[in-house]
Amino acid sequence: MGIGSRIAGVGSFVPPRVYENKDLEEMLDTSHEWIIQRTGIERRHWVDPKTSTSDLALEASLKAIKNAGLEKSDIDMIILATLSPDHDFPGTGCFLQAKLDLPTITVLDIRQQCTGFIYGISVADKFVKSGSHKNILVVGAEVHSKGLDKTPRGRGVSVLFGDGAGAVIVSQTEVNDPLVDSHILTTHLHADGSFAKELWLPAPGMAFEGNERFSQEIIDEGLHYPQMNGKVVFVHAVKRMAECLTAACKEMGVSFADVDCFLFHQANLRINSKVAEVLGLDESKVFNTIQDYGNTTAATIPLGMDKAIEAGKLKKGDLVASAAFGSGFTWASALWRY
Ligand code: COA
Repeated sequence: MGIGSRIAGVGSFVPPRVYENKDLEEMLDTSHEWIIQRTGIERRHWVDPKTSTSDLALEASLKAIKNAGLEKSDIDMIILATLSPDHDFPGTGCFLQAKLDLPTITVLDIRQQCTGFIYGISVADKFVKSGSHKNILVVGAEVHSKGLDKTPRGRGVSVLFGDGAGAVIVSQTEVNDPLVDSHILTTHLHADGSFAKELWLPAPGMAFEGNERFSQEIIDEGLHYPQMNGKVVFVHAVKRMAECLTAACKEMGVSFADVDCFLFHQANLRINSKVAEVLGLDESKVFNTIQDYGNTTAATIPLGMDKAIEAGKLKKGDLVASAAFGSGFTWASALWRY
């Protein structure tokens, strides 16, 4: 079959501090029962005040490089996906590059939110197949906790999100037997910007009338916190994830029964159960991590992959099917043999 790309290494990192649902009850006027029933989340990790997104990304990246059996100097490109950047600009990928001490290699930031990691491996796959790069570090990292409204006003959103990072190395490989050899089979990427304001962070930004990107009014209205129409997101997430997963499998002539492990984005346990129900998937093959980490956006899928390997639910040679949905709206699927 020729030159392909494969996921050669995986790593993840979450900050040590755990917040159980109970820890949020008073702060957010919520309850463990509400959170667990509506979302399946039991706890999440939140950073200490000194930690940034690129700090989490660094830890996950070093583990992924080691896991791939590579040296840092083997990495020739960094792709970093996040919706919670260290700073508005430059992209967090540049901060990570400096922390990794890998000057001059290509750095690309991806802004596709919960779908960012699948967009990232898709871009990496294409760069590797083009022959221009050989070992690409693809990282998803988020520090949500510093950007959440931690008052009862924000409870509809703030209970959902956790901090963390996951990374993989996408490396060049020779694919001789696609049924056996480790490689990325396909990726499907989509977006529909007409739903951009159903899940978004309005401020700060240049779209506000006036000469300043930040104002007292923005702070008073809480527009610097994420806004979400949860019910609309829920319905679209189920529909689009099911749709793009089906399309990827159909394109590759793979049946759902052929898949060994489903790694879905983790926004709500009920979303993933619904996708499994709609598609008639064997739910024991759907690996969920939301219980322990909440929604870690771009970090979710590589973090889930690392945890699935750790739990013995994903082994070398297994066929993985992944799908994600998020702000934009964006959605994507990917199939790879690990
Ligand atoms: N604790 C307690 N009560 C809460 C609460 C919380 N954390 N958040 C909301 N509520 C209350 C609301 O105030 C509302 O009360 P009311 O009926 O008295 O008005 C009630 O619970 C229902 O709120 P609603 O927002 O309609 O709940 P829901 O059933 O839609 O569930 C989500 C909310 C967020 C769990 C659900 O919509 C969801 O998961 N959507 C998808 C989110 C998602 O995927 N986001 C990320 C995409 S990448």
